[in-house]
Amino acid sequence: MNRVLELRCGSVDYFGIGAINRFEHIMEQYRKRGIRRVGIVTGRSSYRLSGAWRVVKPVIEEKHIEYLHFDAITPNPTVDQIDEAVHLLKEIEPQLIIGIGGGSSLDASKVVAVLLRNRGITARDIYTGRFTPFEALPILSINLTHGTGSEVDRYAVATIPEERDKSGAAADCMYPEYAIDDPELMLSLPDKEVLYTSLDALNHLVEAATTKLSSPYTVMLAKEGIALINKWLPHAIEDRQDIEARYWLLYASILGGIAIDCAVVHITHPLEHTLSAFRPGLEHGLGLTILLPAVIKVIYPAVAETLSGILRPITGTLKGTPDEAEGIAQSLREWIESLGVSQRLRDVGFTDDDIPELVRYVRRSQGESGSLSLAPVKVTDEMIREIYRESL
Ligand SMILES: [Fe+2]
Repeated sequence: MNRVLELRCGSVDYFGIGAINRFEHIMEQYRKRGIRRVGIVTGRSSYRLSGAWRVVKPVIEEKHIEYLHFDAITPNPTVDQIDEAVHLLKEIEPQLIIGIGGGSSLDASKVVAVLLRNRGITARDIYTGRFTPFEALPILSINLTHGTGSEVDRYAVATIPEERDKSGAAADCMYPEYAIDDPELMLSLPDKEVLYTSLDALNHLVEAATTKLSSPYTVMLAKEGIALINKWLPHAIEDRQDIEARYWLLYASILGGIAIDCAVVHITHPLEHTLSAFRPGLEHGLGLTILLPAVIKVIYPAVAETLSGILRPITGTLKGTPDEAEGIAQSLREWIESLGVSQRLRDVGFTDDDIPELVRYVRRSQGESGSLSLAPVKVTDEMIREIYRESL
C-alpha cells in the first residue's frame, strides 16, 4: 500500500498512500517545460479539508508559479460555472489547469482546459455539439473521491440548466496528463459520500462490462473491481479511518474509470443524468444505485453470463441463464439495502407523474448516438418507463 504505483492508461496515475507527494515532482517537470502560470479549479472546501491544499500551495509558491484559483464548482456543475471559471482564470493566461476534487471539479477543470485553449468558445458550444474539442491545456487531476474515475478518463459531464440536459463530453485532449490518487486524501469524505462514490464506481464497472464495446479487459476490470467493492465497502462504512478499505475502494474506482474509458456506459448513467438534471441536489451515486436493480433485470437476459460472473461476489453463484433476471435484481436490492441505501425515486422527490417527462428528456439528451445505443438490448421508451417505474 505504501508503494506508489504508476498505472498507465490515458493518463499517468500515481496511486497509493503518499501519492500527493508526487505533486512536487510533477510540478518540477512542468517548470522545466516552461510552465509558470497555473489555473486551479475546485469546489468550495474539499481541496482544503482533504489535506491536498497543504501540499499543493507551498509547492506552487516555492516554484514561483503564478496561480489563480476558481473555487465555486458545485456538485452537478453547470456550463455557466465552467464559463465563469474560464472568465476568471484567463486573466493570467494559464499554461496548465489543475483540478482538485471529486468528479464535478475534475470534469469542470477538463472543459476549462479546452476553453482556455480555444478562445471564443463557450461550454454550451461543447455540450450542444457545436464545437468538437481537439486541443486543451495540459491537465493535472488530484482526485478526492473513490468513485469518479475522471482522473483517468477523457470524459467530462456538465448540465445545461435551461435544457435540463446533463450529459458527457468525450475528447482525447481531456485526458489528464498526470493524476494523483491518494487514499489518505479521502479520509475526510462525509459518510454518505463514502457510500455513494463507491456505488458510482460499481456502476461504471457493471456498465462497462456489458456495453456493446465491452471486452475481456473491461470484464476482467469489472470482476476485480466489484469483488473489491463488495469486500471493502462495509469496512469503510464501519470505520471511516480504515485506510486499507479506502485504498482498495480507490483502486476499484480507478479500474472503473479505465473501464468506462474503454467501453463507455449504457443505460443507468444516462437515466441517472436526467434525474439529477431535474433535481440537481440528487447525488449521482445514489441515483445510479436506485436505478441499478431495474436496469440489471432488463439487460440480464442479453448478458447473463457476463453479469453472473462479475456480480458473483454480491449475488452468489448463478447459472448465467436468462431466467435468473428477477432473482439477480432482488439479490442486488438486498445487498444495496444491507449497505444502508433504502431510498427509492419517491424518496428523492420523483412521482409517477414525472415519468413521461423524464423519458422525453432522456431521449432528447441521448439522440441517436448516445450511450443508450451501446446497451446490450434495444432500449425502447417503454423500457425506460419501466425502469423508472420500478425504481419509484
Ligand atoms: Fe458515474
